Amino acid sequence: MYLLELQNVTIPTLDGKCVIVNDVSFGVKEGTIHAIIGPNGSGKSTLAYAIMGLDSHKILRGKILFNGKDITHLNVTERAQLGITLAWQEPARIDGLSVEKYISLGIREKTNCEERVREALEIVSLEPEKYLSRKIDETLSGGERKRIELAATIAMRPHLIILDEPDSGLDFIIVEDFLRIFNKIKELNMTILLITHREDIGIVADYGTLLWYGDALITDEFPKVMLHYCKKAGLKEFCKRTLSKNGEKCFSDDYIEKIFSEEGD
Ligand SMILES: Nc1ncnc2c1ncn2[C@@H]1O[C@H](COP(=O)(O)OP(=O)(O)OP(=O)(O)O)[C@@H](O)[C@H]1O
Ligand SMILES: [Mg+2]
Repeated sequence: MYLLELQNVTIPTLDGKCVIVNDVSFGVKEGTIHAIIGPNGSGKSTLAYAIMGLDSHKILRGKILFNGKDITHLNVTERAQLGITLAWQEPARIDGLSVEKYISLGIREKTNCEERVREALEIVSLEPEKYLSRKIDETLSGGERKRIELAATIAMRPHLIILDEPDSGLDFIIVEDFLRIFNKIKELNMTILLITHREDIGIVADYGTLLWYGDALITDEFPKVMLHYCKKAGLKEFCKRTLSKNGEKCFSDDYIEKIFSEEGD
C-alpha cells in the first residue's frame, strides 16, 4: 500500500480560469524518497501545496489518500495532525525565541525533548552547543535558517516530509551533505517527497515522477524518470555526463543513444 496516493488529481488556478495540474495519479511508497521533477512552471509546487492542503491550491477533481484514508477534504491542520509536513520554507521569526525553543515547539512528547532537539540539529550538521541558545533572527545566515527549519521538521517526526527545492537560496551545497541528511531522515522512518531541479540531489531518490506542464508522464525508479526527462528536454550529453549513482553510471552511453534515437517519448 502507498503512504500517499494521488488519484486523477486536477488543480486549477485560484481564479479557476486554467488548470495547472491535470489528472495526475501516482503513489509514494512508505519509507522511500520520491522525487518530483519537471521544468519551471510544470506544477510541482502547486502539487506540493495541494498535498499539504493549503487553501490557495484546492483540488477540482480527484482524490488524495494518505495511509489509505481519503484526505481530499481535510484542511492543512488536520493533514498536519496525520503527519504531513511541508518543510524548508523560512522559519517564522519570533522575537526572542531561541533555536532550542523553536525546534521543541513541534515536539509532542515532552520527555527527552532536549535530546530530540540536539539530535535534529546534529542531523542537519549544526553543532548543538553553538546553536541551542542562538535566537531565531537575522543574525542567522540564510543557510542556517533553512537547516534549523529542517531540524524542526525532523524533530516533529512527521510521516511524510514534503521538501520543495530544499537547495534554493543556498549558494553552495555539498551534495554529500544533502544525501546524508536525507538518508538519516529515511532511517528515522520518515518518507520524503522531494521537489528538485538538481539531478545530483534527485539521484538520492528511490522513485520519481516526471511532471510536464501539468501532466504526470512517468512514475518509476528515479534514474529511469530522469532519463525520460532528459529525452523530453533534449539533454543527451547532460544525461550521459551526470546520471550516476554511488559513483557508477546508471545507464551505458549506448543505451542512452538507443533511447534518444527511438521515436516518441
Ligand atoms: N492564477 C494563475 N493564473 C495563471 N497561471 C498561474 C496562476 N497561478 C499559477 N499559475 C501558473 O501555474 C504554473 C505552475 O506553477 P508552479 O509554481 O506549481 O510550478 P513549479 O513546477 O513549481 O515551477 P518552478 O520549477 O519554477 O518552481 C506556472 O506556470 C504558474 O505561472
Ligand atoms: Mg516550484
